[in-house]
Amino acid sequence: MTVLTRRTFAAAAVALPARKTLAANDRPGIALIGCGGRGLRVTKYCLALGNLVACSDVDSTHLAAGAALAPGAFAHKDFRRVLERKDVDIVINATPDHWHTLINIAALKAGKDVYSEKPLTLTIEEGRRLVNTARTTGRILQTGSQQRSDPRFRAAVELVRGGRIGQLNSVVVGLPKASWGGPFQAQPVPSELDWDFYQGQAPKRDYLPERTHFRYRHWYDYCSGPLTDWGCHHNDIMLWALGMDHSGPVSVQGVSHLDPVPGGYDVHSQFTVQYRFASGPPVTCVTMYTEQFGKTPLVVPSDMICGIKFAGTQATLRVDRGMIECSRPELLPEIPQVNSERAHIENFFECVRSRKEPLCPPEVGHRAASFGHLGSICLRLGGRPLRWDPDKERFIGDAEANRYVAREQRKPYSYEKL
Ligand SMILES: NC(=O)c1ccc[n+]([C@@H]2O[C@H](COP(=O)([O-])OP(=O)(O)OC[C@H]3O[C@@H](n4cnc5c(N)ncnc54)[C@H](O)[C@@H]3O)[C@@H](O)[C@H]2O)c1
Repeated sequence: MTVLTRRTFAAAAVALPARKTLAANDRPGIALIGCGGRGLRVTKYCLALGNLVACSDVDSTHLAAGAALAPGAFAHKDFRRVLERKDVDIVINATPDHWHTLINIAALKAGKDVYSEKPLTLTIEEGRRLVNTARTTGRILQTGSQQRSDPRFRAAVELVRGGRIGQLNSVVVGLPKASWGGPFQAQPVPSELDWDFYQGQAPKRDYLPERTHFRYRHWYDYCSGPLTDWGCHHNDIMLWALGMDHSGPVSVQGVSHLDPVPGGYDVHSQFTVQYRFASGPPVTCVTMYTEQFGKTPLVVPSDMICGIKFAGTQATLRVDRGMIECSRPELLPEIPQVNSERAHIENFFECVRSRKEPLCPPEVGHRAASFGHLGSICLRLGGRPLRWDPDKERFIGDAEANRYVAREQRKPYSYEKL
C-alpha cells in the first residue's frame, strides 16, 4: 500500500455533500456503528443530547441490542447504508480497531461528524490518512479518549506543564497486561455473525470465538495490543503533559516478558518498552500485574501499579482513574466530581454546534495511537532499538520496520472500495 504524505493527500479533491447547520435546540440524528459493550454505553449518554436514528452491526444479536435503544431506528448490517441516510448527522464508531479508520473516513466524506472510539487507528499510515480527510472535509471528529475530560488527569497535565513538580527525570506508564493463552480450535461461524465482514481489511482466518467480541483486542490482526488499548488513554495524557501530542518519540526499544503461544492470542501481553523524545525525559511503558518475567526487564518500577508516574526534580506525581497523589500534596488542586465519559461526549456535541476543535481532535488521537503502534512494532521485531522520525512518520534507515507503518488491506475492504 502506498504511504500518503500530508501534502499528497491534502492535494486530492474531495467532493463534499452539503451539510445542514444545527440550531441551538436541534437534536442531531445519531447513528451507532458497532453495537457492542462500548457502543451501547456511549450511545446511552448521547441519548440525552440527540436522537438515535440508525444503527449498524455485523452481528445480528448486537444489532438488535442497538436497535432496542430506540425502537423504530433504522438497523442494517452494512454501515454504508447508514451513512447514506440524510437524517444521520453524527456517527458513533465503536467497532473494533481495525474498522475505525475505514468507517471514520467514509463517515467524514459522507458529511457526518464522528465520535470515534480509541485507538483511532490500526496503523500509523491510517492516522495520517484520517487527519488529512478530517482537514479536507471540515468535519468534527472527537477521539473517545475521555481521560482528557477527567479533572484528575487535567490537573496532572497542568502541574507538569506548569513546571510545578520541577524538571522531569522520568515518566512511567503502567498498563494492564493483555490476555495470554491458546491455541484455540476453529469452530463453525455462528449464524448471527457475518465473519467475513467482521474481519474486514484484516487477513482471512478460521473463525474462533476468541477472535471476536471484546477478545479481538488480544490479536495483532485487529489491533496493537495493550499499548493501543489502555495505552492510548494513558499515553495520550503523558504526551499532552510533555507537550508532545502533535509529535512523537525519536527512538523506541523494548522487551517481551512472555511470548505469545503459537495458535493463541498473538499480541505481546507483558512487556517493558522504553521511548526517548528529541528532548525531555525517557518514558517507559510497562505492563502491570506481570506474573512471569522470563527475560530480564529493562526496568521494573516496584511502586507502580497502573496509571502514569511523573518523577520531577521537585516532586513525584501519580495519576490514574479515580486517584491522583503527589509527594507534595499541597500542590494538588481540589478535584471536582465529574463524569468524564459524559463530559467528553458533551464536549463533542458542543463542537458539532460551534464547529470548534474538540478536546481530542484527529491529530492528537492519531499521535496517541501511533505511540502505541511504535512500541508494538518494536516488540514484533524482537525489541531491538528503532529510530523514528516523528515529522516524516517513518523509521530512520530501517526498511524492515517501515514495512509495519502500513498493513496490506484485504480486498474488497480498502479505502478505494468503501
Ligand atoms: N473509551 C473507552 O474507555 C473504551 C472502553 C471500552 C472499549 N473502547 C473501544 O471501543 C471499541 C469497541 O470495543 P468493545 O469492547 O465495545 O468491543 P465489542 O466487541 O463489544 O463491540 C464491537 C462491535 O463492533 C461490531 N462490528 C465489527 N465490525 C463491524 C463493522 N464492520 N460494522 C459494524 N459493526 C461491526 C461487532 O460485531 C461488535 O458488536 C474498541 O475500539 C475499544 O478500544 C473504548
